[in-house]
Amino acid sequence: MSEPTERAALPLLELDDVAVHFGGVRAVDGVSLYLREGLIHGILGANGSGKSTLLGAVTRLNPLTRGDLRFAGRSYAGVAPHRVARLGVARTFQTVRLIDDRSVRDNVLLGLDTATRSARAGAGARVDEVMERVGIAGLGRMRPSELSYGMQRRTEIARAIVGSPRLLLLDEPTAGMNTDERDEISALLRSLQREGYTQLLVEHDVAMMVDVCDYLFAMNFGKLIAQGLPDEVVRDDGVRESYLGKQAQ
Ligand SMILES: Nc1ncnc2c1ncn2[C@@H]1O[C@H](COP(=O)(O)OP(=O)(O)OP(=O)(O)O)[C@@H](O)[C@H]1O
Ligand SMILES: [Mg+2]
Repeated sequence: MSEPTERAALPLLELDDVAVHFGGVRAVDGVSLYLREGLIHGILGANGSGKSTLLGAVTRLNPLTRGDLRFAGRSYAGVAPHRVARLGVARTFQTVRLIDDRSVRDNVLLGLDTATRSARAGAGARVDEVMERVGIAGLGRMRPSELSYGMQRRTEIARAIVGSPRLLLLDEPTAGMNTDERDEISALLRSLQREGYTQLLVEHDVAMMVDVCDYLFAMNFGKLIAQGLPDEVVRDDGVRESYLGKQAQ
């Protein structure tokens, strides 16, 4: 086996029987899965099936009801949420979360933790490099609200990758975008993959998911109902019934 193939087979993130219950709501209910280094993974599932809650479990924002999380082979289920970024996990949120009384550039800078911001010479250069990388160079002095929605979402991707995470979690990064903007974000995600970013992407656009992802998971009512190559997963009877059928209605 060649070295790149071996690298790609390494599990970067492992979830073992992860559950997140909110009172009686079993938002995530016993999910076991792993992500392989270097791949773009996707999660499909109807509204309320637990996709965002699962991302929140991975970043430790949502406390686990049970289960274990491992990153690069080490359990981090007891690590405080603000320390998860230091492990190398970053995420974007389903709704835009930028600070409007700070510049776009400052918002990107905030993706670096305090220690790195002050200690690392070159933090500024890194911010500029990342802004260029996601296509927002030149917008740094504006306020987030002055940007188009698409550019706001790119700013969030910049903030997530500025600390060079090993795993990037993206919650509906193209929600509300037109087809051209979606294609651009798809191309951006693929180019980030070539730079080595392992990704876990949540999106409702099935065609985009089949196009962008190397591997797909499907959720329904907090549980994993299918996983595999994208073409196979979207043909799965359970997935069609729980999700694709509903979309067509
Ligand atoms: N903080 C919370 N408190 C109580 N219930 C919650 C909380 N967050 C999510 N839920 C519930 O958990 C379930 C899963 O929600 P989640 O947001 O994870 O779904 P989703 O798959 O991301 O849906 P969508 O596609 O609409 O974004 C839903 O029933 C939701 O109402
Ligand atoms: Mg969601």
